Amino acid sequence: MDVDYLEISGGRPLGGEINVQGSKNAVLPILAACIPGAGECVIENCPLIRDTEDTFHIMRALGYCISRTGDAVRITPADTETYTVERMEAVRIRSSVLFLGALLGKMKKAVLPLPGGCAIGKRPIDLHLRALEALGARFEIGETITAWTDGLYGTEIDLEFPSVGATENTILAAVMAKGETVIRNAAREPEVDELCAFLRQRGASVRREADGSIWVDGQKTLGPAVYRMKADRIVSGTYLLAAAAAGGQVRLINESGETLSALRAVLSQMGAVCSAGENGITVCAAQRVRPVPYLETAPYPGFPTDLQSPLLAVLAGADGESTVCETIFERRFCTAGELLKFGAKIGTRGRCAHITGVPRLHGAAADAPDLRGGAALVLAALQAEGRSVIRNTGYIARGYEDIARDLALLGADIRWADDKAE
Ligand code: EPZ
Repeated sequence: MDVDYLEISGGRPLGGEINVQGSKNAVLPILAACIPGAGECVIENCPLIRDTEDTFHIMRALGYCISRTGDAVRITPADTETYTVERMEAVRIRSSVLFLGALLGKMKKAVLPLPGGCAIGKRPIDLHLRALEALGARFEIGETITAWTDGLYGTEIDLEFPSVGATENTILAAVMAKGETVIRNAAREPEVDELCAFLRQRGASVRREADGSIWVDGQKTLGPAVYRMKADRIVSGTYLLAAAAAGGQVRLINESGETLSALRAVLSQMGAVCSAGENGITVCAAQRVRPVPYLETAPYPGFPTDLQSPLLAVLAGADGESTVCETIFERRFCTAGELLKFGAKIGTRGRCAHITGVPRLHGAAADAPDLRGGAALVLAALQAEGRSVIRNTGYIARGYEDIARDLALLGADIRWADDKAE
């Protein structure tokens, strides 16, 4: 069996410009939002990544016809009464939990596998279940989650934590509930607002209030829609950090930078010059960045946890000491161990990583521990002197359409390889 891995010759600056793929974390809830209602939905600029392909498997098993033409995906509901989500793919992607709210809204019943934890943490779904219960759902939890309702009714919900998934799941059920729902302490991530924009396209009454809460007036008829995904802000952030890691100048043509303020502040702290406008966002970085004395990840608009691992890779080559603390996931420092193979000096204690920047990393063979950790290893290899090999690239393919394609267009010496290529 071909074992795909990435081969990178590092130590050279980047230069070039690219368009960034559509957003993984926005399209996954939007695909779930195609479940309730009637009519055909077309999602343009839909990223071609493992997580969307796995989601399509689940939706086809639920009776949906899904076809792709270029970057547009067409989703047509079949008249089926299936409410059981297939196990295999659902366990692989945690976002399958979003089918809970969507199927309860459409079928008043849902059966799906209990989403497991993963490398970055336990990732329980208690906040999802409590919010859906408040709307009138009931659950039986074992190997699978069986959910049912005699009817969903709008209510006021206060989320203990601004969970992205719990906010999205609640919206997906509330749009089909009788009456109004208010979700307080809702996640402010832009992907939640994209989901609301898509649902409004379908005819739902849903909006973000001035205080950040989400208001829904349910039971509207959801019809067809055509929606174009925005650029993936985490992929954009990864490539801006790649320029900081390797040095050089990079432009992301379709990225406005509006949802990347926290990252832009850190790039500026590191000495990289960032400019954003209607022509996209450009970053220019010297060979070696300045350190970041202290940074914490936080819910949006704070520094995104999904860019924490890529930032560690950049700071591994910074000119001094940095400290990065992870406040969202309890086990999101697996990448630090792999970065040591490149000669990085990183120690982790509890929720914080302490990084002593070194003048130059060296090439290494490393294994991606998770999706964003895999991207971080690529950034380490870009700045390292010599050849590197990154294995377990299946994790990276979950969220990046083709990281080798994109970075090669930005001037990197990177290619996919397999054992036969030796
Ligand atoms: C979404 O995950 C993203 N995934 C994650 O991106 C992202 O890191 C995360 O939001 C935070 O921004 C998708 O959108 C598909 P949460 P989600 O619920 O919804 C705890 C990537 O790399 N929690 O906001 O699972 C949870 O354990 C991925 O693209 C509960 O305790 O994140 C975590 O500590 C990784 N109970 C914290 O909240 C719950 O019921 C944040 O989780 C739900 C969450």
